[in-house]
Amino acid sequence: MTAPVIAIDGPSGAGKGTVARAVARELGFAYVDTGAMYRAVAWKARHDRVAVHDEAAVEPIAARASFDLRGGRVVIDGHDVTRAIRTPEIDVAAAAVARLPRVREALVARQRALAGQGGVVMEGRDIGTAVLPDAAVKIYLDASPEERAARRAGDPAHVLSGAALGEVADALAARDRLDRTRDASPLVEAPDAVRVDTTGVPVDAVIARVLDIVRAGIGDAAGGRASAARD
Ligand code: DC
Repeated sequence: MTAPVIAIDGPSGAGKGTVARAVARELGFAYVDTGAMYRAVAWKARHDRVAVHDEAAVEPIAARASFDLRGGRVVIDGHDVTRAIRTPEIDVAAAAVARLPRVREALVARQRALAGQGGVVMEGRDIGTAVLPDAAVKIYLDASPEERAARRAGDPAHVLSGAALGEVADALAARDRLDRTRDASPLVEAPDAVRVDTTGVPVDAVIARVLDIVRAGIGDAAGGRASAARD
């Protein structure tokens, strides 16, 4: 039997990365950050002097670039861009390439291949709706816009960390708008997703709640693996 796949979606700053990573670690599953793939494609487009709105030029990058997402690093075509993709410029460029239907098609195919063997927690915007509609468990993480902006401003991995909260909130609201209003796979909650509002909830409590939902959803599959690991 293939190990289950878990889909975690939601807007920026909802805590998807922290939660998905912790859930993957706890279950012994792989973790895939699909936003990092859109960011890396945007980085490579800029590196190759390709306009991020030029679908015909960006699509081959999405289709053919080599990605290495192991160990928390993001490497595209041999360039380690782990830090370089967390900038305000790449925030904007990634949202632009994510609007291009052929770029999405190419990345979605690669994301499905990554999840093919199962045992994966995949995080993004369209995982439960488009990439893995048959995921064993779908979680939609959300939080108030104010809290999401505050978290993003305080994220040490993000170059915006020193910026005024108001600017971060504005930039976040603009990206949310782009993600929710694009024609190709806009950010929407899957009807069969479990919604978890993380506003005012400490991260450990969010992780515990999501793990409960995931364990209940994958039931015997997780129990079987856990007892096999103990024996
Ligand atoms: O999660 P993030 O901020 O790293 O995502 C970067 C951009 O890619 C953001 O504009 C949303 C978009 N994205 C997407 O359209 N679909 C995904 N599965 C993941 C991210």
